[in-house]
Amino acid sequence: MKGSIFAAVALAGVTLSFSAYAGGDAAAGKSVFNKCAICHSPAPGKNGVGPTLFGVVGRKSASVDGFSYSDAMKAANKTWDEATLDAYLTDPKAMVPGTKMVFPGLPKPEDRANVIAYLETLK
Ligand code: HEC
Repeated sequence: MKGSIFAAVALAGVTLSFSAYAGGDAAAGKSVFNKCAICHSPAPGKNGVGPTLFGVVGRKSASVDGFSYSDAMKAANKTWDEATLDAYLTDPKAMVPGTKMVFPGLPKPEDRANVIAYLETLK
């Protein structure tokens, strides 16, 4: 009995995280991006406190010319796709210990999925 409850919970978790990647809404993500925009521009070539997020999906981590990344980010060696962005935006300091992105993370899976869908439009 206990086992089947755990199985059901685990299954629901898998479905949720899958739909978090598949179901992002770019229009809703644009308003989530307001939290990022104080540090990040969506326009090419414009760095602020953080590097431009233009073209970030599919980009190697720490690859924007002229932006001074932390040593931690330079060493992270990630490619920003839906899975790595989801992990970073959940808890930046857990995924890249020592990152200088001072942001607590987006705890809601739907906020992350939506903002990632918005980031995908920046190309
Ligand atoms: C308080 C400023 C700040 C906020 C708010 C912020 N960031 Fe950042 N972000 C940074 C900084 C600074 C870096 C560079 C980190 C480093 O070098 O360790 C960064 C790095 C990143 C990177 C890696 C970029 C690369 O070129 O490798 C991504 C992706 C990112 N941020 C996404 C976001 C998103 C999405 C949000 C909003 C949900 C957000 N950030 C909010 C400051 C911020």
